[in-house]
Amino acid sequence: MAAKTCLHGGVFSVNPALVKVDFSSNVNPLGISKRVLRSIQNNLNSLFSMYPDPECRELKKNLLNYMDTDLDAEWITVGNGATELIHSFARTFIRKKAIIFNPTFCEYELASKRMGADILFISLKNLNSDYKSIIEKSKDIDAIFLCNPNNPTGLLVSANSIIKIIENVDSSTKVLIDECFIELIDKDPAAYSLISRVKEFDNLLILRSLTKSFGLAGLRVGYMVCNPKLTKQLSTNKIPWNVNGVAQMAGILALKDLEHLTYARLMIKTERSFLQREIKRKMQSFTPRKSDVNYFLIHLKNKDSTEIRDYMLKENGILVRDCSTFTGMSNDYIRVAVKTHEENLLLLDALESSDK
Ligand SMILES: Cc1ncc(COP(=O)(O)O)c(C=O)c1O
Repeated sequence: MAAKTCLHGGVFSVNPALVKVDFSSNVNPLGISKRVLRSIQNNLNSLFSMYPDPECRELKKNLLNYMDTDLDAEWITVGNGATELIHSFARTFIRKKAIIFNPTFCEYELASKRMGADILFISLKNLNSDYKSIIEKSKDIDAIFLCNPNNPTGLLVSANSIIKIIENVDSSTKVLIDECFIELIDKDPAAYSLISRVKEFDNLLILRSLTKSFGLAGLRVGYMVCNPKLTKQLSTNKIPWNVNGVAQMAGILALKDLEHLTYARLMIKTERSFLQREIKRKMQSFTPRKSDVNYFLIHLKNKDSTEIRDYMLKENGILVRDCSTFTGMSNDYIRVAVKTHEENLLLLDALESSDK
C-alpha cells in the first residue's frame, strides 16, 4: 500500500464554492485589524509600484520592538510566511535525517523529504516520559522539529522540557521550535516562548508567523529568530524581495496595533470554552479535547473524519479539518478553529445535524 501523504486543509483543499465558513484554518478569528487595513488601502498606489526592501529592515525593527528583546536585526530572517522558512531551514541544514514530534504540522515532513532525508517520527506523548531514548535517537540527526503549541492538538509543551532536549542533543543538531501560534494561547506566551533563551543555544531556531496571530494569511509574513551565524547560513537560500511590499507594511502596522491581538485572545478563550461546553452538553458522537489555543480536536465516535467533513460541507457549507491526513492520525478526529460567536453557532448547528 502506498504511504499516505500528509496534506493541508483550508478552502482550496475542497471545492471552494461550497465553503460558507472555514473552520479548517486556524487564524485570528477577527482577521486583519481594521486600522491596518485602512492604512494599507491608503498606501496601495506606491506599494504596488515600488520594489520592497529586500532586507525588510523596518519590519525587523518593529519585530525586535514587539519581541522586547536585546537582540538585533542579525538575529532575524523574514520569510514569505513561516512555510518559506521551514523549507529554507531544510535546504540549509537537513541532509540525512530529521526527528519530527508528531502528529504535527505537515510542512516539516514535506520539507525534510524534499531534501531526501529519513524521518524519525516520535510521538509527542513521549516527549517527557521517553526523554532519554529521544536523546539517544538524536545522534547523527541534522534537525529536530517541535511545534509549541502543537498543531493539530492545540497543546503546549513546557519550556523546560524543550530546554532539556536542546541541552542534551549534539550541538550540530539544529532544533527548530515552531511558535507560530504562541500569541494565541490563553496562558502567558512569555512563560512558554524560547525567544528570551535563544542567545543561550547556538543550535536553536524559533519560528514565528504574523499570518495566524495578526490575520495576514493571504499576505504571507513569517520570521525566524536564531543566532547571526545561522541567519547568515539561511540567507544563502533566500530569494531577493521574497516578502512583498504590502506584506511588509501590513506586518509593520499590525505590530503597532496590539489591541487587536489582545481582543482576539480574549475572544478565543471565551469562545473555546463555549464551544467545548456546548459540544459536551449536546452531542453523542463528538468529544472535544483539551486545548490551549484557538483550535481543538474533536474525537469522533463511530464516524469517519473524511465523511463528516464532506457531509458538513455539503449540508451546511461548514468546512472542518479532516485529521486523517496528518501523519500518525487516523480517521477518528476532526479539528476546528475557534471563530466569532456568530460563526461558532453555525458550527454547533452543523455538528448537531451530523450527530445522528
Ligand atoms: C504550526 C504551523 N507552523 C507554520 C505554519 C505556516 O504558517 P505561514 O502561514 O506563516 O506559512 C502553519 C500553517 O498552518 C502551522 O500550522
